[in-house]
Amino acid sequence: MPKAPTSHSDTVIEFYDTHPINEDEILQKIQAQGKSVEQLTQIDLAEFDQDHYGGTAFLDVLADAAGITEHHHVLDVCSGMGGPARWIAHWRSCRVTGLDFTLSRVESARRLTQLVKLDALVKFAHGDATDMPFDAEQFDILLAQESWLHIADKSKLVAECMRVLKPGGTLAFTDIVANVKLDPQTEQRLADGMHTANIATADEYVRLVTALGGTVVSQDDISAQWRVVLQDRLQMFRSLRDTTVAKFGVDRFTEYDNAYSHYVDCFVSNNLGGVRLVAKKPLD
Ligand SMILES: C[S@@+](CC[C@H](N)C(=O)[O-])C[C@H]1O[C@@H](n2cnc3c(N)ncnc32)[C@H](O)[C@@H]1O
Repeated sequence: MPKAPTSHSDTVIEFYDTHPINEDEILQKIQAQGKSVEQLTQIDLAEFDQDHYGGTAFLDVLADAAGITEHHHVLDVCSGMGGPARWIAHWRSCRVTGLDFTLSRVESARRLTQLVKLDALVKFAHGDATDMPFDAEQFDILLAQESWLHIADKSKLVAECMRVLKPGGTLAFTDIVANVKLDPQTEQRLADGMHTANIATADEYVRLVTALGGTVVSQDDISAQWRVVLQDRLQMFRSLRDTTVAKFGVDRFTEYDNAYSHYVDCFVSNNLGGVRLVAKKPLD
């Protein structure tokens, strides 16, 4: 029997261990398209393996903003099943390392990466983004998408990002932000259902980065675009009902559906929104 979660991190890990988007579900969709799993490419996977908003189109915008080329070693902070890491490596021929603290996600990421034969370029590490298992100044570019809402200590997180980035390197991320001061009930419901913790404002992220000597190169409010994407995403999760119920049971489907509907309502009412932030670490 799985042990009961004891900390915030445990609940986030359990949330992703029982997530409607998962390796089995992705491979079932691929097979339903009549494709052979043995001959897959990252182009085939990309329709299903991106667990962020706006799919590869939004990822490309972020990667362009970060200026990723084949010469860079990129770290994807909170890399999930590795969809963004593989996409970037496939198109830009760069080395990518993914870091995630949900072991089931890391293992799926490794298997899917082997399947599409990108394992020479793309590696995955198991670890916490607030205590990264990397030496200082290892990476040219750090990316992150739709993950930091789960991390309570944003200050430690951004400090770790700046530590592992080379001098002159780029930190480029999108995340969920509070567009207004959230009332305690809404905050609690998001924490209970979506396992958020201390959702930041866009300005808080700017403050954290600049306090560590970073220079913000661009800051885009992407709330309006996400509002549309998230309403579509709710329908997409509902379309996964059968696979979610078969793998995790009807109670988990209902629990997720309730939590996600409330989450999407928060974007529709503009209580939550999105930011795309690109910052540079100073040269020594
Ligand atoms: C919504 S998924 C995003 C995955 C990936 N960025 C993508 O776009 O496909 C969020 C991921 O963040 C990871 N995560 C949350 N908190 C973390 C932490 N403190 N350290 C490492 N990973 C974390 C979760 O395990 C999960 O895989």
